[in-house]
Amino acid sequence: MQNVPVIQTTGLSYSFSNKTEAISDINMVVEKGAVYGFLGPNGSGKTTTLSLLLGLYKLHKGAIKIFGEKLQSARSTILKKTGSLIETPSLYGHLTAKENMEVYHKIYGAPKSRIIELLQLVDLSGTGKKSAKKFSLGMKQRLSIALALLPDPELLILDEPANGLDPEGIIELRQLIKKLNAEKGITIVISSHILSEIEKMVTHVGIINKGRMVFQGALEDLHVHNESLLQLHTSDNEKAIHFLKQYNPETEGDLITVYCDDIVQAASINRMLMNNGIDVYLLQPKKNNLEQTFIDLIEKQ
Ligand SMILES: Nc1ncnc2c1ncn2[C@@H]1O[C@H](COP(=O)(O)OP(=O)(O)O)[C@@H](O)[C@H]1O
Ligand SMILES: [Mg+2]
Repeated sequence: MQNVPVIQTTGLSYSFSNKTEAISDINMVVEKGAVYGFLGPNGSGKTTTLSLLLGLYKLHKGAIKIFGEKLQSARSTILKKTGSLIETPSLYGHLTAKENMEVYHKIYGAPKSRIIELLQLVDLSGTGKKSAKKFSLGMKQRLSIALALLPDPELLILDEPANGLDPEGIIELRQLIKKLNAEKGITIVISSHILSEIEKMVTHVGIINKGRMVFQGALEDLHVHNESLLQLHTSDNEKAIHFLKQYNPETEGDLITVYCDDIVQAASINRMLMNNGIDVYLLQPKKNNLEQTFIDLIEKQ
């Protein structure tokens, strides 16, 4: 069974009280090897969904399969292969990175050599005697991820790990996520309420709003091609604009955007510019801004 998704929920719903549902009919599919970004504004249901996946809440409605097995019946085997970080990490502030690892290592019973290896992996092996309370938020997050990695999981679920990180912290987190995915083959689910925070680390996205999934798929499918807009970069943009007048050209930095209906027209634009001694370095359909697509999806609901 090669193509069994690592996570598959069917009609997953949950309500905290018997009033409204916090999440409704969530059909989440996370394929093996994916870095799945779970995106949505605050209060949209990300933590509720991820908590259900980890068996932290009782399943009310719908089904959860992880590694192809039902969570209710195979809970302990599933959770042994799953590392997680939900909401604020619980670290011992007075202990060093290594000592924190040792505490949890005893609980999980992982080989001791993993402590050094994991601290290197999350780039904390040089912190020595520094206690965790003196760590930056990014360092604390990375230590928490190292703790989640102790049982050598095949699946890692991280709830808003970028929350509160500065740009440098986000870059370090991104590098770590990519490394865990590429080198260790770990399937990763990472939630965020800010698309730009995780856009560069994910292969797939699930967008949730008001408890409902509004988009799920590969990241490139979210890049909606706007076929009526064409972007160009030429050897002489000023001269090109003159020849492109009928297409209502607009410039943005080095790029010219024109209105154009089809690829035949794109080819004739290219030929016309070349015939006028202008080299065309780039000619492509303009992509919608990803952030705008995200906002549009959420506002459309
Ligand atoms: N423990 C709780 N008790 C009651 N309502 C809750 C609880 N946790 C979350 N909710 C509600 O469920 C909805 C989804 O919340 P949550 O899953 O935390 O969203 P997110 O993680 O996307 O910010 C929100 O309306 C929130 O107020
Ligand atoms: Mg949350």
